[in-house]
Amino acid sequence: MCGIVGYIGNNESVPVLLEGLSKLEYRGYDSAGIAVMTNEGMKVRKFKGRLKNLEEGIKHENMVSSIGIGHTRWATHGEPSDVNAHPHTNINASIAVIHNGIIENYMEIKEYLIEKGIEFKSETDTEVIAHLVDEYYEGNLLEAVNKAVDRMEGAYAIAVIAKDSPDEMVAVRKDSPLIVGLGEGENFIASDIPALLKYTRDVLLIENEETVHLTKDKVVIYDDLGREVNRDIFKVTWDVEAAEKDGYEHFTIKEIHEQPKGVKETLLRRLDKDNNINLDGIKLTKEDLDGINKVYIVACGTAYHAGLIGKYAIEKFANIPVEADIASEFRYRDPFIDEHTLFIAVSQSGETLDTLASLREAKRKGARIMSVVNVVGSSVARESDDVFYTWAGIEIGVASTKAYTTQLVAMYLIALRMAEESGKMTHEEVSKVIEELKTFPEKLEKILENKDFIQKFADSQFNNERIVFMGRGLDVSVAHESSLKLKEISYINSFSIAAGELKHGTIALIEEGTLILALATQQKLFDKMLSNIKEVKARGAHVVSIAKEGDTAVEKVSDEVIYIPETMDELTPILSVVPMQLFAYYVSLARGNDVDKPRNLAKSVTVE
Ligand code: G6P
Repeated sequence: MCGIVGYIGNNESVPVLLEGLSKLEYRGYDSAGIAVMTNEGMKVRKFKGRLKNLEEGIKHENMVSSIGIGHTRWATHGEPSDVNAHPHTNINASIAVIHNGIIENYMEIKEYLIEKGIEFKSETDTEVIAHLVDEYYEGNLLEAVNKAVDRMEGAYAIAVIAKDSPDEMVAVRKDSPLIVGLGEGENFIASDIPALLKYTRDVLLIENEETVHLTKDKVVIYDDLGREVNRDIFKVTWDVEAAEKDGYEHFTIKEIHEQPKGVKETLLRRLDKDNNINLDGIKLTKEDLDGINKVYIVACGTAYHAGLIGKYAIEKFANIPVEADIASEFRYRDPFIDEHTLFIAVSQSGETLDTLASLREAKRKGARIMSVVNVVGSSVARESDDVFYTWAGIEIGVASTKAYTTQLVAMYLIALRMAEESGKMTHEEVSKVIEELKTFPEKLEKILENKDFIQKFADSQFNNERIVFMGRGLDVSVAHESSLKLKEISYINSFSIAAGELKHGTIALIEEGTLILALATQQKLFDKMLSNIKEVKARGAHVVSIAKEGDTAVEKVSDEVIYIPETMDELTPILSVVPMQLFAYYVSLARGNDVDKPRNLAKSVTVE
């Protein structure tokens, strides 16, 4: 999704903007641009395509400047093009604007401006902001931006600079992420912390509907009523290296390899030596739990798939009915919620707009709000009553991998804690599951050691345009996640299905050479899976099964088998998804795709 960055200070703005934009690339984008104030006036340069086009485009230009804004665009209104790229300006290019989000009433504003004689250059919703600010600008940039924002509906993070106010910048946040970085004689804004890490670790997290006024020496935050707000400085403690590739060819494969560590961190931070689960950010007491009769787990994409496993775990261990739902559906379907409802949002970024909107809807109806979030201080985390941070570390690859496995650990720990607290499981029973989870970092390492085999297999199948994932029970959710991974980074038209559903239609699609990845890790469903495998084999499919070590019966019906270490059935998803992530990665690599930044996708979806 779009990324924004801004600089004002004693140093050169252009290198800071380019560095910031490079760290925002992971969010997904199709064009990039900057606007800087120079002695020769405002210079706006923007190019379709990768950031290197922008770098090349300005390489021979004199762009000495100490104030500027930069943007990576992910097209929503208007195709990816130089003209539609940000920044956008008013007619005489004295005001420049960058924007992440959508101005929902832009058509109405545009018509109003057209009637006033404004000619629009782009097809974007953003351009209206530049003209609106221009209309209100009478020497006071803050006032002009405030007036423009008053007319805007939708979700946005914007930053504005003006030729006639060369020592100030104004930024506003409404539902799209925005942070401020503090320096000595310089200040910054950005969508995300990595963009600023090279320059500062002192960050102000901007809240919804707040406006920020920046000069090189001062940052003032105003709330929606124009009152000055005090904000504590948030010290970023993680390393810059965490956002680097560290010798790996791609972030995606690096992050796949970080899963043993991520799982370990997520787990061990919550356990004492007696396996008592201490969910630091979660204050649910036995009394609270007694009052809960229903749980909703709501999320998007991969996080939703983690929610499906969470549903299974909470129902199985804690015995409370759970519904897992997709946030973009949940928020509009008027679900039944009251004060006895626990709402759990799952989100890597903590900024996904649909997830955030669902959370707010649940809160409005009286639910208790819990969240499982990776990014500390993100919007979802800040708006929740209880937060479980996954501690996966920053995830850059658009296809989520380590965030997913750590979300699964989080879901299991929450379920087990609920089970013990409410008396549904004894401490000994819980401890047995925990002991097994503690072996997972090692088991994950073992799976990763087998990656050459998976690469060979991926190399033999990368041209196959028909790939189906199937499973039963918990394996269905893993099949969904595996298929999503493959779609995202290989662009293969794959789908996933509960194996028992095959006969009800989908089996008609199976033909000679269709690749079936059959997850067969659930003991009580193992024989049923063998039958399903035979059904597809009989129709010419090439079957590769994923089973637990020791379950060798699967070899007789499959063309190949990928084994995962033996474990409890309830916990297999954390292990079985890893070979599938590796498969998606190597297929994508073999097809020559941009693995970390797949086409049309964004890491953090901050628009509807
Ligand atoms: C985007 C990302 C996915 C992610 C989904 C939900 O689509 O590309 O990888 O699963 O958003 O994101 P969240 O940050 O809420 O987990």
